[in-house]
Amino acid sequence: MPDVSLMTDLPTAAAARPAKPHLPDAQTVTSVKHWTDRLFSFRVSRPASLRFRSGEFVMIGLMGENGKPLLRAYSIASPSWDEELEFYSIKVPDGPLTSKLQHIQPGDEIILRPKPVGTLVVDALLPGKRLWFLATGTGLAPFASLMRDPEVYEKFDQVIMMHTCREAAELNYGRELVEGLKDDPLIGEIVADKLVYYPTCTREAFHHMGRVTDNLSTGKVFADLGIPPMDPATDRAMVCGSLAFNVDVKAILEGFGLREGANSDPKEFVVEKAFVGDGI
Ligand code: FAD
Ligand code: A2P
Repeated sequence: MPDVSLMTDLPTAAAARPAKPHLPDAQTVTSVKHWTDRLFSFRVSRPASLRFRSGEFVMIGLMGENGKPLLRAYSIASPSWDEELEFYSIKVPDGPLTSKLQHIQPGDEIILRPKPVGTLVVDALLPGKRLWFLATGTGLAPFASLMRDPEVYEKFDQVIMMHTCREAAELNYGRELVEGLKDDPLIGEIVADKLVYYPTCTREAFHHMGRVTDNLSTGKVFADLGIPPMDPATDRAMVCGSLAFNVDVKAILEGFGLREGANSDPKEFVVEKAFVGDGI
């Protein structure tokens, strides 16, 4: 039984400061970087027991005002060998979670349910020679993990990251990540030979323009890179963007003869939604 009389004798400042609530499945924020007014990335401590495959997602969030956890799906953007976890996030102005999450600071806690799942994993693809990562917006997040995974480069001769955003500033997280990879002591040398980065913008002048879908269907990306069109014998793809993007890319990949696979049934490409859109 605690001595209640001692508790009332606490120094005034400490007594006035409310005890920080300890969230269920709490992890501590270690850094936050804001990329644009709509995009930020952050790193958190990693539960010692958490194992995941690059490309998977987990549920993360904050405690809601009703005292219940407010959770959303988030791709883990860091590689599986990293001692922390990284996330790359949208800021939806009135979004129940991200209107608050965008204000987190180092030292704050978030909730992280340590049950990783998802289809954007190398195991869900048949062996091949060339691997395409096709993303718009925050759909880059799972590829930020996969691009840093040595297993990807062991299994494929070439890895092509196509990322499209409306404006150039929205590409910066991915661009800095790719540029930094070439100097990475762990995988820098492998990546330098194998990773091809093909960023494009659609609404601002940039050195490469156009939607992923248009650059694939017109053959522009193959001409720019000096490679043959996709072939189901050699090419594999992973797709992550809005529902409309995923539907349109899927049709193009099927036009090249690639088939959609899953964890339980590996084939030539896999798809995951980057978010659940309005009314879907
Ligand atoms: P919500 O009520 O969840 O969303 C409100 C509206 O905002 C949506 O209807 C949609 O129109 C729009 N929206 C939501 N997320 C996005 C987005 N990422 N890009 C553009 N528009 C969006 N979000 C991330 O930011 N990073 C991730 O790595 C990520 N991974 C995901 C993985 C999966 C499998 C799924 C299904 C979703 C993922 N999301 C990711 C979306 C995320 O779960 C939330 O929807 C997002 O954080 C916004 O939460 P919210 O509560 O603020 O708004
Ligand atoms: P665009 O500017 O031509 O609409 P958003 O911010 O709307 O999610 O879009 C992110 C990027 O994805 C933009 O460059 C956008 O191009 C592109 N995009 C949106 N929808 C599709 C789609 N169905 N197919 C291919 N690209 C798409």
